Amino acid sequence: MYDLTFDPERYEVKTCELGNWSITYRAFEHIVYCANPASKVQTLNIYVPEEYYSGKTINGYSLKTAPIFTPNTVGGYMEGPAMEVGIDQFNHKPNSAFEALLHGYVVMCAGIRGRNTGMQSKEFFVGGTGKENKENQEKRSGRAPALIVDMKAAIRYMRHNAKTVPGDVEKIITNGTSAGGALSALAGATGNAKEYEPYLKAIGAAEEKDDIFAASCYCPIHNLEHADAAYEWLFKKEPIFHMMKFEMSPEGPKMIPVVGELSEEQKKLSAELKAEFPAYVNALGLKDENGEELTLEENGEGTFKDYVMSFVAASAQKEKETHDSKVRLSDLAVPGSDIEKQGYITFEENQVKKIDADAYVKKITRMKPTPAFDALSLESPENEEFGDDEVMARHFTEFAEKHSKVNGTKADDQMIKLLNPTKFIGECDTTKNWRIRHGAFDRDTSIAIPVILTTMLKNKGYDVDFALPWGLPHSGDYDLEELFAWIDKLAK
Ligand code: DHB
Repeated sequence: MYDLTFDPERYEVKTCELGNWSITYRAFEHIVYCANPASKVQTLNIYVPEEYYSGKTINGYSLKTAPIFTPNTVGGYMEGPAMEVGIDQFNHKPNSAFEALLHGYVVMCAGIRGRNTGMQSKEFFVGGTGKENKENQEKRSGRAPALIVDMKAAIRYMRHNAKTVPGDVEKIITNGTSAGGALSALAGATGNAKEYEPYLKAIGAAEEKDDIFAASCYCPIHNLEHADAAYEWLFKKEPIFHMMKFEMSPEGPKMIPVVGELSEEQKKLSAELKAEFPAYVNALGLKDENGEELTLEENGEGTFKDYVMSFVAASAQKEKETHDSKVRLSDLAVPGSDIEKQGYITFEENQVKKIDADAYVKKITRMKPTPAFDALSLESPENEEFGDDEVMARHFTEFAEKHSKVNGTKADDQMIKLLNPTKFIGECDTTKNWRIRHGAFDRDTSIAIPVILTTMLKNKGYDVDFALPWGLPHSGDYDLEELFAWIDKLAK
């Protein structure tokens, strides 16, 4: 049993430097945030600008008023150890914890269990730390819904110690990319939802509230049970897939391209999955800003599709005006994404008039074979996410269960729900404040998926700052300055 009392005297003063950036901070590290942890990864770090302890302010914030920025390192639904202040291995700039300290936030980084907890693995994904998991003595306790349970437990730890921890515990902002973006969306959507209570009890989480102030989500890979249909709705006409595998090398992460073609059987499955999508969208009852219904006809065309493409058009328009991706994010933008060279976009006097949707999809290319998420071989990250300590992997759609090549079974409906933020919007203390980004060239999930999340939130009265930054692939943390400006506007 761990004591959940924060000790304000247990810290080290550290300095992190990179080029012109330097920050001296108090590091409260390796704090176990639940009384009965199932894994060594369940610890959190709290970082505070040292200047706050001599009564100084940064950006108008002080020791007790600073928002608490809460980044996670979950990628690929794998374990995400608590971030440490340092350098981002992808862009070799200060990581989000470092940037947040420079900006005057308190930073809380929680270590989160994942599908590889209790297993040895070398896999890694965008947003992750790339550290090899060597721990194989533990149970596989990190499968669904562990990631959100751990985040909630860490949030509860902060509230439990509201008087003694640095920062304002009513201003917690979660941030993550990809599966970590899904985790951030879950934290935002499911505040105080009673459905997680038994899991929180099992790890001895503090009995406190776990709602948050704001959620920042980069390319959240979520709504998994509808992601396969959404994927084929967008990519059915594209038979060639272009995967990217990440491997760690001594020089840092390496990307290895894998190209393949859908088999005849997969093309048939693609058509069936695409055909499932309109019924799902139509049942959501989504509306645009003018109250017009967003629907799809059987052939996949309709106002919802126009609405999705309107975000692509807005992205292209912004890039045409600012060239922001080309200028500021040239290292990250997909080669060939230069806005001046997109033949499928019709401009009239520098205004986007029309985008040929099929040609845009061809341009960004299909990444995954069919089904994209619920693999018939049970070999996708998401299949593992729905496994547990006894069963390695499960399906999470009736479709894949029916077509399973390995006689796979499907996870419980309740478990699938616990991993889907869209199911909780407005059903509990969903946060009011959302910022969602998904690169316009990101093919890890269909752009319909973040559009659905955004629209569901907006339709229920939540505030969403949503954009598809031009030319960007599956990635996150590329516009922290804008993210922090958004947080400051809300917090002040
Ligand atoms: C991630 C990427 C994926 O394509 C996926 O299916 C799940 C997770 C990720 O980068 O976290």
